[in-house]
Amino acid sequence: MCGIIGYIGNRSAIPILVSGLMRLEYRGYDSAGLALSVRGSLKVHKAAGKLFRLKSILPKRSGGKIGIGHTRWATHGAPTDINAHPHLSADGKTAVVHNGIVENAAELRSLLEDEGVEFVSETDTELLAHLIARETDASLEQRVGKALALVQGTYGIAVIHCDESDRIVVARHGSPIIIGVGDREMLVASDIAALVRYTQQVVHLDDGEIATLDAKGFRTMTMDAQPIPKSPSTVSWQDDAYERGEYAHYMRKEIFEQPAAIARTLSGRIEDRFHTAHLGGLNLEASDLRDIKRVKLLGCGSAFYAGVAGAHFIESLARIPASAEPAAEFRYRNPVIERDTLHVAISQSGETLDTLMAIQEVRRSGGPVLGIVNVVGSSIAREAEGGIYMHAGPEVSVASTKAYTCSLVALVLLALHLGRMRDLSIERGSNLIEALKRLPDDIESALATEDSLRDLAQRHARCSSAFYIGRGTGFAVALEGAQKLKEISYIHAEAYPSSELKHGPLALVGPELPTFMVMPHGAMLEKSIVSLEEVKARKGPVIALTHPGDARIARRADSVIEIPHTDDLLAPVVMAIPLQLFAYHCALALGRDIDQPRNLAKSVTVE
Ligand code: AGP
Repeated sequence: MCGIIGYIGNRSAIPILVSGLMRLEYRGYDSAGLALSVRGSLKVHKAAGKLFRLKSILPKRSGGKIGIGHTRWATHGAPTDINAHPHLSADGKTAVVHNGIVENAAELRSLLEDEGVEFVSETDTELLAHLIARETDASLEQRVGKALALVQGTYGIAVIHCDESDRIVVARHGSPIIIGVGDREMLVASDIAALVRYTQQVVHLDDGEIATLDAKGFRTMTMDAQPIPKSPSTVSWQDDAYERGEYAHYMRKEIFEQPAAIARTLSGRIEDRFHTAHLGGLNLEASDLRDIKRVKLLGCGSAFYAGVAGAHFIESLARIPASAEPAAEFRYRNPVIERDTLHVAISQSGETLDTLMAIQEVRRSGGPVLGIVNVVGSSIAREAEGGIYMHAGPEVSVASTKAYTCSLVALVLLALHLGRMRDLSIERGSNLIEALKRLPDDIESALATEDSLRDLAQRHARCSSAFYIGRGTGFAVALEGAQKLKEISYIHAEAYPSSELKHGPLALVGPELPTFMVMPHGAMLEKSIVSLEEVKARKGPVIALTHPGDARIARRADSVIEIPHTDDLLAPVVMAIPLQLFAYHCALALGRDIDQPRNLAKSVTVE
């Protein structure tokens, strides 16, 4: 949820650290800071609020060629200048930036206070600086290793010391640390977004590892200093993929990138000859896949909602019982994990802690785990046995759009693959494949509804609440539509299966409450029309999201958004687009901070 950057080399560190923090700001944006080692002492600059506040107080010139920086999403302590990272030891010689949470912070804090340490901040991170400073070993990495042995919880940290200004020491347990290997310079970050401007060569630390970086290279080791040689891998995402370009917001850019992103998810994965999906990265034998008796889809937020749709896809095409569950709930309810259940973790970032912990739980019990992940080399991708990369490209806006639809497409491919291994007919397989090939064009047509959605948003942006309803996969789309609206416009929105209206929520329906009805044509259309009548009978304004051609919907709904006919299973992908556009234009009309909505962060790496 926070971002770490570090630099050591021959260039002035400040511009490099600041450009890294700019790339990381989407990870957390309530305060930022950096520490530089300059001529034998540490200089620290920190500011509460967004990064521009820190930029405004930085010195124009500084001799520092080694430094660490941080952008924060507050956990321990309010977002103030003092609580911003980096934090210093009492002697001012050790500086630490930290992502994660120290779970035994209270205990360690009183231990240090008993020893006479006076804390200046409310953070758990400050105690890491004091713990490192109280160790007496000769090298910084040894002191870091010993200090971390006392810590319970999660961390990704970067540490500098003014008397050892030829190195940065970094360590990881549960929070990502990635080393960027440059030409006579080294970087470190918690996210490749901050590195790709300077290098494509990266090394991922694993949990329980420490590394020391100097201008010429790096050494990786265990916490007790046993060497672990690692070689760099090449990142395919380029720096310009993170640029906003002509778009006013990353969210709008990412919405409009969906035809190309989905084409990439599909690329190389359609096997026309056998009317199936070719998924090279599953790393499971065909016989293992055939033996699967159940599928459990795990994710958080929009990734969980993708899983809700995915369970429909799998049951429909492969006839395997499938269900989705929020990863955090799964993890803590002592789940029954059976070896013939396939667990699939869905995550854009690949770093969501609850999802990561859930699949670690499954792996401990020996169950097979696949990941549907966007960020290559991320923690979830590395923890899973195999999986499907979304290939959505970098998603910067906190509100997920293209990663959500690409994960739906990846789930359709998985369902098709599992289905064709069982008894899904050639005819159904090839119809779906033809529809998948048309999908990028269908998405383009859905994007063409933007003007209508802008008008609708102007009309409804000042409502205090909205309903989103649907049946079957339409309910999954409704969940995601409501999520988008509340996340970026702060309008209260709730999603229900249409059938649930009369069991309670109908009490709220009236002229002030717009209801978005997701009404794809297909088996449930007649039922949806009954729900439409129920809402209209209570004078509720209805926005129907449907395909062209049903006069009853056109007659009864207050507004109709029509998207092209597609395969029933792909309707959720196409129908997500107008809901994204509606949320975007409501947030725009209300003047919200669309890409960085309040209280949220792009990647939730704490519980
Ligand atoms: C989506 O708009 C949200 N920002 C959020 O629900 C997100 O999908 C969730 O936190 C999971 O993130 P992940 O896909 O990176 O695991």
